Amino acid sequence: MDSPLKLIDGLSGGRKLTREEYLTLIRERDQVRETAAERACGVRNSHYGNRVFIRGLIEFTNYCRNNCYYCGIRAGNPKADRYRLSPEEILTVAEEGYRLGFRTVVLQGGEDPGFSEEMLEELVRKLKAQRPDRAVTLSFGEHSSETFRKWKEAGADRYLLRHETINPEHYASLHPKEMSYEHRIQCLRDLRSLGYQVGAGFMVGSPGQTEEDLAQEMLFLREFRPEMVGIGPFLPHQDTPFAEETAGSAELTTFLLSLIRLTLPRVLLPATTALGTADAEGREKGILAGANVVMPNLSPAGVREKYMLYDHKICTGEEAAQCSACLAGRIRSTGCEIVVDRGDPA
Ligand code: 5AD
Ligand code: FES
Repeated sequence: MDSPLKLIDGLSGGRKLTREEYLTLIRERDQVRETAAERACGVRNSHYGNRVFIRGLIEFTNYCRNNCYYCGIRAGNPKADRYRLSPEEILTVAEEGYRLGFRTVVLQGGEDPGFSEEMLEELVRKLKAQRPDRAVTLSFGEHSSETFRKWKEAGADRYLLRHETINPEHYASLHPKEMSYEHRIQCLRDLRSLGYQVGAGFMVGSPGQTEEDLAQEMLFLREFRPEMVGIGPFLPHQDTPFAEETAGSAELTTFLLSLIRLTLPRVLLPATTALGTADAEGREKGILAGANVVMPNLSPAGVREKYMLYDHKICTGEEAAQCSACLAGRIRSTGCEIVVDRGDPA
């Protein structure tokens, strides 16, 4: 087998690595982390320049019918203080976001039956009517292909649905038996065939995840080619079955960001809030590893601390404008520039 440095060279030149080669890179990452990050930024810059795209994130409901073992807003957490924004509130926040320069709004929520499919369809129509030059991204869990189609016809452009792990047995250890790995993957395929720009992704260091699993993730991403990939370290939440589990590492996450950039050169790759929570400079490090998206929180200040997926989540005390300005400064510190743009794939 080639040396780790040679493997990074090969990957940068477009060579398809085997699972074992990815595994070697992951195991020997300390030898190649800097080279991988340099190459990843070079590849990113060749397609996007030093431009970083911003997405205004609105966490519109923390009700959820699911019971993922890792997640703080799981149905089985009686301590979660539940809220649901009204469509009018969401439109107001989105408009404020537009004035701050956001040309993408991301509506993220738990799988809340109280926010009906029809309500969301109507809301998407209004968001598009309000600002036709703005992309609408949905992140609202698993639904039928028919429902995804209605939202697409209403004007939704993108959908984020992390698969969480590509290993079916591992999936079954992170979720109760009511949740199906096959259905999750089917949703990604449905979204793709409906013409959405699709975001997949996984947690890094979730309980039971192996380095082999991570190598397999790279092969899945290379095959499925999502337009967007969201990854972040697993972080425990005190009121979940995984309260006592060990957190995933920021350094492994940033290395994987570089590998993902080298594997999918044009991917839209966020430096996530979880990464910024695991390490105070995590988002900057993510950008320096090859990421090119950040998603400041636009949710009204009063609900932010209720959308607690994991303990110690950052940006829960800020106003939209503050968070946006803070993040802009952080991005500039990396030598990149935030742009007012929808940020579609190059
Ligand atoms: N730690 C890190 N990420 C989490 N997510 C949910 N719970 C946690 C946690 N405890 C991630 C999942 C989900 C996304 C919205 O947030 O990957 O898809
Ligand atoms: Fe939200 Fe800094 S990015 S406060």
